[in-house]
Amino acid sequence: MTSVDVRAGPHRYDVLIGSGLLAGVGKVLKKQLGGVHCAVISDSNTRSLFAHRVKQSLTTAGFQPMLITIPAGEKSKTFEQVGAICDQMTADGLDRQSFVIGLGGGVIGDISGFVAAIFHRGIPHVQIPTTLLAMVDSSIGGKTGVNTRDGKNLLGAVHHPSLVIDDVDVLKTLPRREFNQGFAEIIKHAVIADVKMFEDVARASGLRVSEGASETLALQSLIRRNIEIKSKIVAKDEHDRTGERAILNFGHTVGHAIERAGDYQEFLHGEAVSLGIAAACAISIKRAGLPCDQRDAIVDLLRRFDLPTHLPANFPREKIFGALPYDKKFEGGKIQFVVTSTIGSAHLSSDVTMEDIREAIDQL
Ligand SMILES: NC(=O)c1ccc[n+]([C@@H]2O[C@H](COP(=O)([O-])OP(=O)(O)OC[C@H]3O[C@@H](n4cnc5c(N)ncnc54)[C@H](O)[C@@H]3O)[C@@H](O)[C@H]2O)c1
Ligand SMILES: [Zn+2]
Repeated sequence: MTSVDVRAGPHRYDVLIGSGLLAGVGKVLKKQLGGVHCAVISDSNTRSLFAHRVKQSLTTAGFQPMLITIPAGEKSKTFEQVGAICDQMTADGLDRQSFVIGLGGGVIGDISGFVAAIFHRGIPHVQIPTTLLAMVDSSIGGKTGVNTRDGKNLLGAVHHPSLVIDDVDVLKTLPRREFNQGFAEIIKHAVIADVKMFEDVARASGLRVSEGASETLALQSLIRRNIEIKSKIVAKDEHDRTGERAILNFGHTVGHAIERAGDYQEFLHGEAVSLGIAAACAISIKRAGLPCDQRDAIVDLLRRFDLPTHLPANFPREKIFGALPYDKKFEGGKIQFVVTSTIGSAHLSSDVTMEDIREAIDQL
């Protein structure tokens, strides 16, 4: 097992990365948390796969866990679910001494973190991410929240976890498509911050979570590297105010618009981000001097994980432009867009125009 010491402002927490960690959750938490009552929040898939093991470990260590389950999928990430979860916690006697464990992918991490942020004005949150995307991205940084009718993540809070436990064994049951989408965020991290990791990921493209010990170790070290990259960027700009954290949005401006244009059905988040990265590369060639061969290398790497870099012919492209977060007043004007001029670094540019974005979407 390895661990990463994450710091963000006054907050500090460990991320444990290893194999077989679920069985030891209770023991680890006993050293860190005073409360006895806790809610283990999972979705309909992760409950049947992992909740029993976690509950048993907690009970053995002297905790009194209650299990709360919500339907799997993005549609559950709502304020209504948050209210229903809080009501169940209150009914079961949880109070301000209690804590919350999120056992699932990014949806569970975001909603359980938001519950922890507001229940009795804030109680500790423990993340046990079960998707690759959640391990390398959503469990780090403290952003929690839910979607509303008008858009994604519109309600939320910054509430850092007290501990994150990444047990790579859980990835064995993750469907291939879900596993691959995690690589969109990994490739994003490599492009914006780590040229060496970019080369390592190229070598890791056949990686699966199998029984092989060497593959498990390679995956653990890749997860660790990504946590270090994201947490370092977050530490510089915890509340997303100075622009430094904004580079994590590389590929996300167009990516989010594609997700929305596809009604969150057509593409998984990582797949939409892959398309967004392809668009951001085209814009970076024009506005930041990214060499064409580097764009080709990035697109090639995305494809090695079966990630899309072109839209299907029948996709409603015009909807993408309408779903961009920019106001009409930017039409013809300048906006802030994350670009890369060489693999391993990224910056915010105000040279990008709406026409550049339109052109890049047309090329997808
Ligand atoms: N807070 C942040 O900083 C941040 C960053 C990136 C993404 N996000 C959010 O994360 C969410 C996407 O996360 P996700 O891709 O993990 O989605 P998810 O939580 O919906 O998980 C994807 C699917 O995999 C299933 N699953 C999870 N773990 C499994 C396992 N080990 N074996 C088998 N099936 C498993 C889930 O039940 C679900 O059906 C989005 O809501 C996004 O907004 C948040
Ligand atoms: Zn993302």
